[in-house]
Amino acid sequence: MTTDEKFASIVAEATEWRRDFHAHPELSFQEYRTSAKVAELLESWGIEVTRNIAGTGLVGTLRAGKAAEGGNRGKAIGLRADMDALPMPEMTGLPYASKTPGVMHACGHDGHTAMLLGAAKYLAETRNFDGTVHFIFQPAEEKGGGGRVMVEEGLFTRFPCDFVYGIHNDSRLTTGHFAITYGTTNAAADTFAIRIHGKGGHAARPHHSIDPVMTAAHVAVALQSVVSRRIDPIESAVLSICMIHGGTATNVIPEEAVLEGTVRTMKAEVRDDMERLLTEVATATAMAHGARAVVEYERGYPSVVNSNEPVDRARRAAAALFGQERVIHDRPPTMGGEDFAYMANTVPGCFIRLGHVDPGTERFSNHHPRYDFNDASLEPGIRFWAGLVEQELVDEQK
Ligand code: NI
Repeated sequence: MTTDEKFASIVAEATEWRRDFHAHPELSFQEYRTSAKVAELLESWGIEVTRNIAGTGLVGTLRAGKAAEGGNRGKAIGLRADMDALPMPEMTGLPYASKTPGVMHACGHDGHTAMLLGAAKYLAETRNFDGTVHFIFQPAEEKGGGGRVMVEEGLFTRFPCDFVYGIHNDSRLTTGHFAITYGTTNAAADTFAIRIHGKGGHAARPHHSIDPVMTAAHVAVALQSVVSRRIDPIESAVLSICMIHGGTATNVIPEEAVLEGTVRTMKAEVRDDMERLLTEVATATAMAHGARAVVEYERGYPSVVNSNEPVDRARRAAAALFGQERVIHDRPPTMGGEDFAYMANTVPGCFIRLGHVDPGTERFSNHHPRYDFNDASLEPGIRFWAGLVEQELVDEQK
């Protein structure tokens, strides 16, 4: 069998796995079926599997060359895929659409998992490298930070890696194109809730009340000046208020109103500033109206920061496989969050965006109820993972 034939047969299998995962989506930290299937496939190819890291997370370890003979582990790299789906109804109407109402693979993690499995199968069959590769299948990227929990449970002390790599599909890039960039690729994603405590009463006699609804409106407007007037315009920050709740009747001033939303930032200093300024502005604005604001600010995923060395290595692998013209060096970061951040904060890492829009077509964006991972991305994804391992894990004495 030629290499091309081998890849073609693996891609065909990966397409089936992908559609099977798509039909059976599971929420964060509940990826029981997915994780069991991943483990079973890896073991069937002779890959050593360590289960139950961060609950449903697992690591497949494959050694080849001198590393397989024991003793020195040689060089080691980690390749990461996420496995979870989203709590939303699917509207694709596809034959392999979700069989679980209200749960959907709308971010392509089904594809990421199938892609890494495809590479694992290829590498287990060919073993044309010298060193150790850890296939990291993480739970709960969408919610709860499965990547963080895996790191906390000793992922990189139990499975030491020189570098760690992750891939996410990108609905704004052409199929088979790889965006591999230095520095920050994804923003830190925090959430907040601001509780405005007023004094309830009759809507016709507002002077006997303290109106939390009107105060909430002032707070919402005042907060919009934080990014525009208090943060250096050269830096990036987003503050979105996405929910305002308060009141039950048209003639009642309620006791309380709540605003909730998200803050996205690229740099740690700006993140600190945003938390402090949001709290100050909300508290002081509420006070100006006689009310009291209590701010809960919850830090979510930190920003993903790529290290230069793995970026160079990933670019070299992609260019060697697909040509320089398919490697994008200057893609701006996204304000979306990504919990690969915890891995890249621990081991030098590189997060790669893989295009999945065929030329002349359009695709629904990630998290849309009609989104579907493009199976045409499996082939470049699998080849890239396999090629990266073969490039990185070479016996330097040979
Ligand atoms: Ni995603």
